[in-house]
Amino acid sequence: MKKIVIAIDGYSSCGKSTTAKLVAAELGYAYIDTGAMYRAVTLYFLQQHVSLTNPKEVRDALDNIDITFHYNPKSKRNEVFLNGLNVEDEIRKMYISNQVSEVSVVKEVRRAMVAQQQKMGKKRGVVMDGRDIGTAVFPDAEVKIFMSADVETRAMRRQQELLDKKQLVNLNEIRENLQKRDLIDSTREESPLRQAEDAHLLDTSHMTIDEQVEFVLNTVASTIINTEQSVEERG
Ligand code: DC
Repeated sequence: MKKIVIAIDGYSSCGKSTTAKLVAAELGYAYIDTGAMYRAVTLYFLQQHVSLTNPKEVRDALDNIDITFHYNPKSKRNEVFLNGLNVEDEIRKMYISNQVSEVSVVKEVRRAMVAQQQKMGKKRGVVMDGRDIGTAVFPDAEVKIFMSADVETRAMRRQQELLDKKQLVNLNEIRENLQKRDLIDSTREESPLRQAEDAHLLDTSHMTIDEQVEFVLNTVASTIINTEQSVEERG
C-alpha cells in the first residue's frame, strides 16, 4: 500500500505524541516528535547562552547542532540525541518547557527545523506530531489531525506524566505553562499553531488513548479508500 504522511498538530499535552507513537507502531511507520527537536535546540541555546535577538549567534549555534532520533529497545521508544548525547529526559524538564516557546518563535530556528523535518519525511511513511506539520512542514500530508482538549484535563495529564518521571510539579505551574505556550505558539508570526482547513478536529477531553488511536486509524483507512477510489474512477 502507498505510504502516506500523517500530520498530528494541536495544543500542548493533548496526547499527540502518545497517539502518534501508537499509530506509527500499528502502521509500521516512523514516528517523529518535532517538539523534541525544538526542546533540544532550547537546551543547547541555554547551555551556550545564545542570545535569541542576535541572528548571527542563532545561526552559528544552529550550525553546531545535530539532532537525531535513535530507537531504544529497553524503553521501546525513539529517543532524541543532541550532538551525539541522549537528552530525552533532560528536554522534558520544566525549565525547558518554560523556555521552548520563546525559542520556537525565532525565524532561523523554525527554518532549520522545518527543513530537517521535511527531509525526515521525504520518503513518506511517517507520523509527525507538532504545531505546524499540516500547515507548514507537510501541507500536502494525506491525513491531518488537529488535537485539542480542555486545559484542566491537559494539565492533569501532564502532571501525571511528570510524576511518572519522578518530577513533582504543582498543577497551577503546569496550567500556566500550557496556557502561556499555547498563546505564544498560536500568535507567533512564523507558522503559528492553527488548524489546517483540511484537518480533522479531535477533541480528546473525554477520550481514552485507545479511542484516539482508533479515530486516527479510521481516518487513515477512509482516506486511503477514497484516494484509491478516485484513482480508479479517473483511470
Ligand atoms: O510538543 P511539545 O510540547 O514537546 O513542544 C514543545 C514546544 O515546541 C511547543 O510549545 C512549541 C514548539 N513546537 C513548535 O513550535 N513547532 C512544532 N512543530 C513542534 C513544537
